[in-house]
Amino acid sequence: MGPEPSSAGTGGHVAESWRLPYGEARPYAEPVRLLEREHPLDVLTERARRAVAGDGSLVLLAGEPGIGKTVLLRAFASALREPPLWGMCDALSTPRPLGPLRDVAVDLGAPLPDLLREGAPQHEVFAAVLAALRDRPRTLIVEDLHWADEATADLVRFLARRIAGTPSLMVVSYRGRGRSGPPARAGPR
Ligand SMILES: Nc1ncnc2c1ncn2[C@@H]1O[C@H](COP(=O)(O)OP(=O)(O)OP(=O)(O)O)[C@@H](O)[C@H]1O
Ligand SMILES: [Mg+2]
Repeated sequence: MGPEPSSAGTGGHVAESWRLPYGEARPYAEPVRLLEREHPLDVLTERARRAVAGDGSLVLLAGEPGIGKTVLLRAFASALREPPLWGMCDALSTPRPLGPLRDVAVDLGAPLPDLLREGAPQHEVFAAVLAALRDRPRTLIVEDLHWADEATADLVRFLARRIAGTPSLMVVSYRGRGRSGPPARAGPR
């Protein structure tokens, strides 16, 4: 069984997502030989290629726990010329404020680490992230959005409406069904 492609508008441009078929979870084991994920890998690779040409986008990757979101992203990452920036939301009782952004801030470069350290206003932080994504081609992965704090969910909404026209690709994974869209509210479940 293969993944099902779908698309959803995000403020005027297209975000793609896949609803991975439920019921395929396997016990975790490394190394992994990725099976039956040619289509989503091809689409991710094509989106990365288009981003470098100035046609950036957001890709949503949805599926149930254990269905293979992380291994798919690792396979995609291993095929990229430059490693992606990889931010994680975690199953914490108190989610880190802008946790995934803190994971990648140093790689996004100045002034982001300072802005985060100083507790700069959110609009300044968001603008700096967008500037970094406009500056040169980057691939930004945000994993497990279902565990995001509210500021991270807002950051994803902010970037989703603006990433078109940048040379960057953002990929956001979350537990759920692709056609219902990403989680509307943040926080641990
Ligand atoms: N297409 C696949 N080919 C090979 N192994 C797979 C595939 N999909 C999932 N697996 C295996 O299933 C297990 C769980 O995969 P993974 O951790 O990527 O799931 P996940 O969707 O990220 O889950 P979670 O929501 O808990 O983070 C791993 O052992 C992985 O190797
Ligand atoms: Mg995972």
